[in-house]
Amino acid sequence: MARIFIVGSGVVGTATGKGFLHAGHKVTFIDVDEQRLEALRSQGLDAHSDLDLMAEPSSFIFLTLPTPNVGHAYDMSAFETGSASVGRALRKAIESHVVVVRSTVPPGTAEGFVEPTLQEYSGKNPGDGFTVASNPEFLRAASAVEDFRHPWMTVVASRSARTRERLGELLRPFGGDLRLFANPAEAELIKCAHNIYNATKISFWNEMWRVSRELGLELDPIAQTVARSAEGSINPLYGIRGGAPYGGVCLPKDTQGFLGVAESVGLRMPLLRAVIEVNDQMAREAGGQAGALSPNAA
Ligand SMILES: NC(=O)c1ccc[n+]([C@@H]2O[C@H](COP(=O)([O-])OP(=O)(O)OC[C@H]3O[C@@H](n4cnc5c(N)ncnc54)[C@H](O)[C@@H]3O)[C@@H](O)[C@H]2O)c1
Repeated sequence: MARIFIVGSGVVGTATGKGFLHAGHKVTFIDVDEQRLEALRSQGLDAHSDLDLMAEPSSFIFLTLPTPNVGHAYDMSAFETGSASVGRALRKAIESHVVVVRSTVPPGTAEGFVEPTLQEYSGKNPGDGFTVASNPEFLRAASAVEDFRHPWMTVVASRSARTRERLGELLRPFGGDLRLFANPAEAELIKCAHNIYNATKISFWNEMWRVSRELGLELDPIAQTVARSAEGSINPLYGIRGGAPYGGVCLPKDTQGFLGVAESVGLRMPLLRAVIEVNDQMAREAGGQAGALSPNAA
């Protein structure tokens, strides 16, 4: 049985804590919102406003704090206060603890922000009193508790091999694909790319929906067929290699040509334009090598 603290007990924190409880671990929820704490206590859960590590054995402290955006930036203020309070608790701790960043954060946060904050407020050095890890959450809000209990992908990153091993042991019983990385920034970028990829796919089909509506066609059967016909959809390894533009005959011709089809029904297709722009940039960087030999040729 592991000792677990959840710092930030909202959607992700609650699902994470309940999942660990269900697996037989000892879990304490921490939050700054008294109403949130009351709601958790009313469910019989151990919930507190302060983290106290003084008499605790070595534990995992999951940071599931909010990271909303303000314009084109992440608001890291909850991470600042949350990391500082964990640092203060570490100062009084006897054992060494693993601090795990589970929120979605800009790449570099665990090592460039959380670790120095913990160091400053605990007066201890990484590896001596605490270690830092990244373990992004992939759950969907609508099915948070179920998704936590049955993940299809678990990503763990830490510079410390021992920490990777211990977190892996903690999370492996939940099942799914477990991937270990040494650099926490890799795990952080995985989660950002994961969300951006999903958003891009949705915008792609919304853009096609607008075109099909103008052409008097129903999108659903078209999209459902392409979802099974396009290699980019059925082959998870297709098109994921960075640094090479798409080439060959079909992709350059049809991306360019279709802009004219959209224009003829009064649509601009900003996403398709961006696709072409990115490819042109890549082709320039690759020295005009966007030919049939490109690894992304179709
Ligand atoms: N909601 C989702 O579906 C989902 C899925 C995957 C990842 N995420 C990511 O997980 C993170 C948390 O998201 P969420 O949806 O659980 O947020 P949330 O707003 O539901 O919960 C955050 C909790 O943290 C508490 N909090 C704020 N400052 C605190 C502090 N200093 N100390 C202790 N508690 C504090 C808040 O009171 C709140 O209860 C975000 O980075 C988010 O992007 C969310």
